[in-house]
Amino acid sequence: MPIWSSLTLERVGRVEHRRRLAMKRALITGITGQDGAYLSKLLRDHGYEIYGTHRPDSGTGTARLRELGTERDVRLLPLDLRDDAGVRAVIALAQPAEVYHLASQSSVAASFEQPLLTADLNALGTLRLLEALRTLAPAARLFHASSSEIFGRGPRPAQDENTPPHPRSPYAVAKLFAHWSTINYRETYGLFACCGLLFNHESPLRGMQFVTRKICDGVARIRLGLANELRLGNLDARRDWGFAGDYVRAMWLMLQQETADDYVVASGTSHSVRDFVAAAFGHVGLAWEDYVRQDPTLLRPAEADSQVGDSSKARRVLGWRPTVSFEQLVGLMVDAELARLRSAESSRAQTARTT
Ligand code: NAP
Ligand code: GDD
Repeated sequence: MPIWSSLTLERVGRVEHRRRLAMKRALITGITGQDGAYLSKLLRDHGYEIYGTHRPDSGTGTARLRELGTERDVRLLPLDLRDDAGVRAVIALAQPAEVYHLASQSSVAASFEQPLLTADLNALGTLRLLEALRTLAPAARLFHASSSEIFGRGPRPAQDENTPPHPRSPYAVAKLFAHWSTINYRETYGLFACCGLLFNHESPLRGMQFVTRKICDGVARIRLGLANELRLGNLDARRDWGFAGDYVRAMWLMLQQETADDYVVASGTSHSVRDFVAAAFGHVGLAWEDYVRQDPTLLRPAEADSQVGDSSKARRVLGWRPTVSFEQLVGLMVDAELARLRSAESSRAQTARTT
């Protein structure tokens, strides 16, 4: 006797259909990036149906999604933020209940080389999305990834939601435009739109162009005898570094509130690049002074010298807390690089043995 009668199958089909109807649908722009990958895992675990935008020709691919085990749980839609019709098509097709707008040219250093591209993507790209939502999906809830970079030098002791902006890079100027555009669409058209003023957040999935991943990769190479120096720019700059997995939780919490608002997301601790370097070398028992060289070509034309965030509002209203300390973050990132390099080395050795 068949285990599944046609009646049972029909019932299961109906249940599955109802489950899908009940599932919330989220759209993540920039799902292939660091935060996109962590957020896809969080939303998958909360039972969302997930659409995500990617750029098939960018070379990034879906490695981060694969690493976190969500590649099969997301529906990928191609999108370049410069393409107005493309932005509208994605919103029309996905009809999301929640939109997490993470796609951007996210490197501050690169923004000095490509200011126009950065403005087109980060400022106008966000405006294109806001217009598409206003006209095609006004009930959707929007999270915008604003940045602590808009505070620039950062007045002491800490920056919060009321700190006046003073952007010091093309990236920061473009993000400030996007930040205020998002607030403007909330106030003018009633969109449920939130900004997360995100301070630096890192992980083993961080892009290699950012200093923490570059340092951890360099430390692991030196430890394994694959390199003998690490070249860096400004060691005095101070950042408020947290773990990306914690920061995507804050994004999700913002969209679960009764009213839309803006929140600083930060650990509240400040460390210099030199502190990060010392902790990373210290983690593998090496003295950083023996390996680090300062390279003037890596200095920026202008710098956000010192940043530290006050996330009291997020802690009070959202109940958000970071779970990973600075020391834990450095340790887990260095360990991930060591594991990655050792695994690449052993695959190479195995290939050499079999050929
Ligand atoms: P990321 O790893 O660099 O990811 C950026 C994403 O944007 C990638 O998926 C990238 O696609 C996509 N993208 C780039 N150019 C695009 C274009 N022309 N059209 C469409 N998509 C494009 O950045 P992240 O660290 O996850 O950060 C997520 C967001 O938070 C960004 O907006 C960033 O500016 C902001 N933010 C980040 C931090 C932080 O510390 N991580 C702090 C404050 C704010 P490809 O993979 O194809 O390049
Ligand atoms: N990238 C990089 N490479 N930065 C270096 C280097 C180097 O070789 N040497 C020193 N630094 C210093 C930079 O001058 C800066 O002061 C600091 O390290 C951090 O640089 P990044 O890791 O590139 O991050 P960021 O702070 O400029 O920008 C990141 O955080 C912002 C939020 O504050 C990005 O994720 C942005 O997208 C994000 O908005």
